[in-house]
Amino acid sequence: MCGIVGAVAQRNVQNILLEGLRRLEYRGYDSAGMAVLASAGLQRCRALGKVAALEQRLVAEPLPGHCGIAHTRWATHGKPSEANAHPHASGDRLAVVHNGIIENHEVLRHELQDAGYVFVSQTDTEVVAHLLEREYRLGDGLLASVQRVLKRLEGAYALAVVHADEPDVIVGARKGSPLVVGVGIDEAFLGSDPLALLQVTDRFIYLQEGDVVRLSEGGHVEVVDEAGRPAAREIQTFEHADGAASKGDYRHFMQKEIFEQPSVIAAALEGRLGDKSVLVESFGPGAEALFARVRQIHIVACGTSYHAGMVARYWLERYAGIPAQVEGASEYRYRTVVVPEGTLFVTLSQSGETADTLAALRFAREQGYLGSLAICNVPGSSLVRESDLTLMTQAGPEIGVASTKAFTTQLTGLMLLTLALGRIKGLSSDLQAELVAGLRGLPRLVSQVLKLDGEIETLSMAFAEKNHALFLGRGVHFPIALEGALKLKEISYIHAEAYPAGELKHGPLALVDSEMPVISVAPNDELLDKLKSNLQEVRARGGELFVFADEAVGLEEEEGMRVLRLPHVHDALAPILYTIPLQLLSYHVAVLKGTDVDQPRNLAKSVTVE
Ligand code: G6P
Repeated sequence: MCGIVGAVAQRNVQNILLEGLRRLEYRGYDSAGMAVLASAGLQRCRALGKVAALEQRLVAEPLPGHCGIAHTRWATHGKPSEANAHPHASGDRLAVVHNGIIENHEVLRHELQDAGYVFVSQTDTEVVAHLLEREYRLGDGLLASVQRVLKRLEGAYALAVVHADEPDVIVGARKGSPLVVGVGIDEAFLGSDPLALLQVTDRFIYLQEGDVVRLSEGGHVEVVDEAGRPAAREIQTFEHADGAASKGDYRHFMQKEIFEQPSVIAAALEGRLGDKSVLVESFGPGAEALFARVRQIHIVACGTSYHAGMVARYWLERYAGIPAQVEGASEYRYRTVVVPEGTLFVTLSQSGETADTLAALRFAREQGYLGSLAICNVPGSSLVRESDLTLMTQAGPEIGVASTKAFTTQLTGLMLLTLALGRIKGLSSDLQAELVAGLRGLPRLVSQVLKLDGEIETLSMAFAEKNHALFLGRGVHFPIALEGALKLKEISYIHAEAYPAGELKHGPLALVDSEMPVISVAPNDELLDKLKSNLQEVRARGGELFVFADEAVGLEEEEGMRVLRLPHVHDALAPILYTIPLQLLSYHVAVLKGTDVDQPRNLAKSVTVE
């Protein structure tokens, strides 16, 4: 998704902006651009494709200056092209970058065309540039012009604007899309994500909904709220080490993030486990009292986070005895929802900024829920700030678009939630102690599974030439099969579907032949025998099977069936462990196919538009 960087500094900002864009590459984009206020006035450079293409142009024609804005664009209105790339200008003195969507852009475009403005792009953003140009003529400065323009805009946005008449000023605004101010020493920065600015500062102001900010020479930062009143906003220090934003010795961020899972799962557990039970206060000071009143749970999320929610439904009903419902946020937010008394609303999100999940939370606030809990990876994100309770997943920055460590730490957090609620709802202390011990042993088991990497790499060769794949799981492993299929689709572009194994004969079995690899996870649980029968159904139709199985289940390799053995794990925690080989499989298939593993085509890391 689109990214914004801005800088007002004593030094040349071109390379700060460029480095910021590089750090935003992980979000997914199709063009990039920069506008700098130089002695010669406003200068712009844009390029279709990667930031490296923009960089090449800047080598040929540098844009030195002390104040500038830059952008990576993920096309929504108008195809990826240089003309549609940001910054957009009106005349030769004003430029704007924008994340999000201006929903009333057509009406505004007609109004501006009638007033004589000529449009040179197909974007919704260009209306903002022309509206600003018109307002700026009133002569009361950039901040006041932006404030007036915002009143005309409908939709979600983060904006950054510069004008050659105010050569050391950037004005930014946020409504519905994240924007942070980076606080430097006599310098100030803007970013849609703190990661974009970690090379220059670790101190940030997280702008609130409706805020407008003016950055000026000498590091001055002036924030006004939606009503136009000066607002004091706290400066927070970013917690993660900058090393998280580099690949280290790994070939891809995704690979690094897969291998980080033992340590981040341990981090997700740290300080949250007592001797034999979960510390309920890990969810915040009010958690104990709120949890005691929970009778139902509604979980809402998108993408991989949605799959984590599906796993949690099995856990919550089985171990805490609490009815749970899971729904994709884009569906949930547009239907009539019946909320039984005592229902807790839970959102799951890596970024905390996914537009549909955030909108679902805001919608839920009007529906009479008991309260809201966000399980999230990004401190200070909108979801975290707007929820009653939060549990941070502690995965550290996740850069690969395909989510890996964020998923397994979400599952870890969801097991903590299950046990916290179970503790209050009377889950036996023996079972609590057993699961707490299981959680403690999980990082070690994940490390053991990661040692299968070489074998899985060899296995992946069987997929490189295939066009389709089928993933099977039963019970709590059905969502794991869904997640496995999603990973393969996302990064290797192989069409993959997941089915509960019991549904096989109701349709998908018709697809099975020697060209359709079938992947299954077979932990040693009560559904194992049923799963084995389903696997036989596949074998009997000539399907090639790849089974990830508990070392104790006694599944033997035979022609057409490869078996990879995983260490024994407590039933309840198997979904976390069995995710790992599926991640590794997708990763190696994608590497073999030569796709862009960390930034797969058409996808974005953080989907901040609807
Ligand atoms: C995008 C990402 C997915 C992610 C989903 C939800 O589609 O590519 O990896 O699962 O958004 O994101 P969230 O940040 O809310 O977990």
